[in-house]
Amino acid sequence: MTLDWAPVRVLIPENELQAKIDQLAADITADYHDRRPLLVCVLKGAVVFLADLARRLPFALEMDFMAVSSYGHSTESSGVVRILKDLDSDIKGRHVLVVEDIIDSGLTLQYLSQSLKARNPASLEIVTLLSKTSRRVTDLECRYTGFDIPDMFVVGYGLDYKEKYRNLPFVGVLESAVD
Ligand code: IMP
Ligand code: MG
Repeated sequence: MTLDWAPVRVLIPENELQAKIDQLAADITADYHDRRPLLVCVLKGAVVFLADLARRLPFALEMDFMAVSSYGHSTESSGVVRILKDLDSDIKGRHVLVVEDIIDSGLTLQYLSQSLKARNPASLEIVTLLSKTSRRVTDLECRYTGFDIPDMFVVGYGLDYKEKYRNLPFVGVLESAVD
């Protein structure tokens, strides 16, 4: 069987991802165990992280999903974000924890946080698996960060390049230009 994948160099192996998610889950459990939080997953990239994270949180919580488009036709974030799918739930008075795959410029989440804060949640925090902190152009506050990574385009563990590679169990870097 041949795999229809261009070579991907492993940046963060599966065992390191899972160990980090154990730690994040412990921190989140300490803060949220009695708050019945609403985990808001930003589609599509964060679904794999959400699935692994949520199964390590041993207390009552709810999940909801949002889809946004941040890039339009360009590859750089513009800060102009369209909500493609809004939440099903009313977040007024709720403890909201936004679950993100990666924060790059921060513009997408900045916009999203403002839009969610306007709905008067009891609290609003962010957990991201990956962060390109050197690329940040906003003063967005992220409560929990898994890994700070260099300025490189990564795929796997939910992250895609043209919708491919989301199902890789690790985070990697494409070895060469591919379609
Ligand atoms: P920001 O608005 O610049 O923070 O962009 C955040 C969004 O861009 C993420 O939620 C991802 O969907 C996408 N993104 C940023 N960097 C990468 C990457 O290295 N690989 C895959 N998607 C990325
Ligand atoms: Mg995303």
